[in-house]
Amino acid sequence: MTQIDINSVSKSFPVQGGRLEVLDGVSLGARSGEFVSILGPSGCGKSTLFSLLTGIEAADSGELLVGGEPLSGDDNPFAWMPQNDVLFPWRTVLDNVALGAEVAGGLGRADARARARELLATFELEEFADSRPFELSGGMRQRAALARTVAQGRDVLLLDEPFGALDALTRTDLQLWLEQIWERERWTVVLITHDVREAVLLSDRVFVLGPRPATVRLELEIPLPRPRTLETLADPQVAALEHQLLTALDVGAYRAG
Ligand SMILES: Nc1ncnc2c1ncn2[C@@H]1O[C@H](COP(=O)(O)OP(=O)(O)OP(=O)(O)O)[C@@H](O)[C@H]1O
Ligand SMILES: [Mg+2]
Repeated sequence: MTQIDINSVSKSFPVQGGRLEVLDGVSLGARSGEFVSILGPSGCGKSTLFSLLTGIEAADSGELLVGGEPLSGDDNPFAWMPQNDVLFPWRTVLDNVALGAEVAGGLGRADARARARELLATFELEEFADSRPFELSGGMRQRAALARTVAQGRDVLLLDEPFGALDALTRTDLQLWLEQIWERERWTVVLITHDVREAVLLSDRVFVLGPRPATVRLELEIPLPRPRTLETLADPQVAALEHQLLTALDVGAYRAG
């Protein structure tokens, strides 16, 4: 697996009458096979970090290292699941997943479909291979979108709020399910989330960004034993870790009157 380092990265965008400063010297990273989460207020620049890693945008300054080497154009190790990822409604679940293997994984059509079938088994979607996305529940669609991301055959997953649109119970279910798959695969994962508990439950390390222009406010190791299960949530450390993250996010700072 691959190590990712973002060192003192700044990024601004041109806007009418000047520039919008988004990232201000952000340093964070993920060790090989580490599960890292990024928390931060809406609009602070989290998704922008993924645009920089995937080469959609260029940083103004700072360095992005992949396996210790500067990020190079074509050959990057990232499978990216963008925020609000959508499945193609006219393709079956199987063909949506096969698309990841075909386009980004470089497989021919038959091999891509074979790989997609394997993944559907892992993602517990075998029975729905021939369904269209509208026939799935929200949680199943997110699993299919994750399967398509994994089908790209890369060893770093960039997940931008993959469970953002789900109800709390489905979400916890999928978190525990992702944990199980990750324990087996051990990809390097960078997860963007607004869910403090999700970050604690899944991560080895969490980075908290402040409001735009974002700096790193807190880097927190999550020393909970693995594998993490539903029982992990009853660990007294969880509340203390969540409290540290919420404090760094300024949650509860507002006082009425
Ligand atoms: N390509 C772009 N051109 C101009 N401005 C941009 C561009 N991409 C992002 N921005 C601006 O940069 C800021 C950060 O956006 P970004 O999408 O990274 O936030 P975010 O932290 O992911 O927010 P959210 O939690 O709501 O997803 C926003 O103010 C956004 O308007
Ligand atoms: Mg975002």
